Amino acid sequence: MAALSIGDDEYQAFARFLEHACGIVLGDSKQYLVASRLAPLLEAEGIPDLKSLVERLERRPTADLKGRVIEAMTTNETQWFSDSFPFDVLRRHLLPELERQRVWPARIWSAACSSGQEVYSISMTVDEYNDRGGRMEAEVLGTDISAAMIEQAKRARYTANVARRGLSAERQKRFFDEVGENTWEVKQSVRRRTSFRTHNLLESYAGLGRFDIVFCRNVLIYFGYDSRRDIVDRIASVTKPGGYLIVGASESLARHSDKFELVRLDGGVIYRRRD
Ligand SMILES: C[S@@+](CC[C@H](N)C(=O)[O-])C[C@H]1O[C@@H](n2cnc3c(N)ncnc32)[C@H](O)[C@@H]1O
Repeated sequence: MAALSIGDDEYQAFARFLEHACGIVLGDSKQYLVASRLAPLLEAEGIPDLKSLVERLERRPTADLKGRVIEAMTTNETQWFSDSFPFDVLRRHLLPELERQRVWPARIWSAACSSGQEVYSISMTVDEYNDRGGRMEAEVLGTDISAAMIEQAKRARYTANVARRGLSAERQKRFFDEVGENTWEVKQSVRRRTSFRTHNLLESYAGLGRFDIVFCRNVLIYFGYDSRRDIVDRIASVTKPGGYLIVGASESLARHSDKFELVRLDGGVIYRRRD
């Protein structure tokens, strides 16, 4: 397919659509990114150019087309135990605190969970906590805007390469079964705590329930200031008083909410819902 050429007007119109649909702010001069991410979709749909796609999205958008455009434009990068800090803090501080408070089971939400690695890493951390004498149980909900990512997360099957990224050989052996050539599946003992559903962080949080701990990592960075504020406020509304919010290593809640206070732990930062 010939390189997609993008004029200023349709670029701005597309950027408006994307921010409205999922919060992602493209910024200026990302034409190359839009062109490379959307080219396969336009070709598959027989849509000649970005202008025609924008017109379709504005005039007669189907949920399917909207979803596929969002999927093409989001970054799904993730790995097991990524950054290690949140999982260490969970094991060393948060699970013991919840056990002392006799919370049973703890409710943990991984918002924007991509293909599930964060959710299963949380469940594996509960097992590792219990190995060291802990007695905790948890329900871990994983959500993402992308239906394709949620399907992948539910399947819990990964190629050997993906199953290894960020995972020690010991954890791979303990928490996975090899179920085919080049295919590893997360064990039922880890999966039993988990559930998944699609959810757009910009839409209603009704029906999610309330959480002791929320992981919302490496997604707020893509959003504009207003969407971040709005999302952090909504997360506060589903976090129990005294519950915790963990964001990505390069993200911060500074200026985004007065509903959480900053807690420094083990050389890093997490946020506690004010009472
Ligand atoms: C970089 S991944 C982060 C995965 C995981 N939290 C981690 O840190 O390893 C970002 C995810 O955010 C999801 N996402 C983007 N916009 C979203 C929205 N408005 N609501 C929910 N999820 C969204 C994307 O589909 C993608 O899977």
